[in-house]
Amino acid sequence: MAIRTMLTESFGLDHPIVLAPMATVAGGHLAAAVSEAGGLGLVGGGYGDPAWLRRELSLARSRTARAWGVGFITWHASHDALALALSFEPHVVLLSFGDPRPYLPAIRAAGCRLICQVQDVDDARAAAAAGADFIVAQGAEAGGHGGERATLPLVPAIVDAVAPIPVLAAGGIADGRGLAAALALGAEGALIGTRFYAAEESLGHPGAKERIERAVGGDTVRTRIFDIVRGYRWPGPYTGRALRNRFLDRWHGREGALAERLDAEAPAFHAAVAEGRFDTAMVWAGEAVDLIAAVQPAAGIVTRVSAEAEHRLRAAADLLV
Ligand SMILES: Cc1cc2nc3c(=O)[nH]c(=O)nc-3n(C[C@H](O)[C@H](O)[C@H](O)COP(=O)(O)O)c2cc1C
Repeated sequence: MAIRTMLTESFGLDHPIVLAPMATVAGGHLAAAVSEAGGLGLVGGGYGDPAWLRRELSLARSRTARAWGVGFITWHASHDALALALSFEPHVVLLSFGDPRPYLPAIRAAGCRLICQVQDVDDARAAAAAGADFIVAQGAEAGGHGGERATLPLVPAIVDAVAPIPVLAAGGIADGRGLAAALALGAEGALIGTRFYAAEESLGHPGAKERIERAVGGDTVRTRIFDIVRGYRWPGPYTGRALRNRFLDRWHGREGALAERLDAEAPAFHAAVAEGRFDTAMVWAGEAVDLIAAVQPAAGIVTRVSAEAEHRLRAAADLLV
C-alpha cells in the first residue's frame, strides 16, 4: 500500500513528500537522498551564489536518477542564476517570495515544471494565473521566511481558490500526523523543511542541528533582525522564523537601533556565522521543532513520515461508523 496523489503521480514519487529548498542547508546530497528515498528533493538555491549552485546541483544530478529540483528566492533571483540551474536539467523549479512571471518562459523552455510557494490566497491566485503547476500554501509555522497566515486554515482556503491546480501544504509538518492532516485538508502532499534540516545529509552546522533537537516550538520567533544584520532587503510582508538566541533577545523589537549599529554588529555577526556560534548566528527553524528529537538519515525521515501518515489515515477511517 502507498499514498497516491497528484504529486506522486506527476513526478513518479513513492511518497507525497517534498524537501523544502532551504538556502545553504538543502544541498545536493540531501536533495538526492530525499529523491532516492521516493520523495522529491529540492536544492536550496537561495540567493543564487553561482559557485555553491554549481557544486550542489552537480551533486544532486549525479546522485539520483529520480525527479529532483531547485528553489530560488524570487525577489532576489536572476536570469543568470536560473539559467545556470536549468543547465543541470532539474525536473522542477520552485519559486517563493515574489512574482514568478519573469522566470516562467525559461522554465517552460527547459521542459521544467514550476512550483510556486505562497503565503496568502491573493498570491495563490496570482501564481495560478501565472501558470504554476503546483502551489505550496506556506503557513506561518514554517521555519525560515514566510508570512502570517496559519497552515490549518490557509491550506483549504488556497485549495478552494486555485482548484483544480494541485496544492501542497508547508509549515509545521514534521511527522506523519502532519502529513495526514495536510492530505485531509485537500493538499496533494507536504513540503517539509525544518525536519530535514536535522537530517544527517543536510549542510546545516552540527551545532544548529543540536539546537533544533533541543528546542520547543515556543523557542521560535518570526523576526527581521537577521535580515537587517546580513544586509538583505526583504520586502515588507516577509519575516523569518528562527530559534531565539542571545542576539535575537537583544535586538528583536529594536530593529531601528540595530540598523543604526550595523558598522559594529554586522562584522561580529558574520564572524559568528562563519565560526558556528549560534548564540549569535541564526538557526532558521519552524514551530514543529517539538517533534524533532534526533538527527536522522533523510531516507528514514521520508519513509517514516509516509508510513505514519498511512497509519493515521487508516486509523481515521476507523472512526467512521
Ligand atoms: C533553514 C531554512 C531555510 C529556508 N530557506 C528557504 C529558501 O531559501 N527558499 C524558500 O523558498 N523557502 C525556504 N525556507 C522555507 C521552506 O521552503 C518551507 O516553507 C518551510 O521550511 C516549511 O515549514 P517547516 O520548516 O515547518 O517544515 C527555509 C526554511 C528553513 C527551515
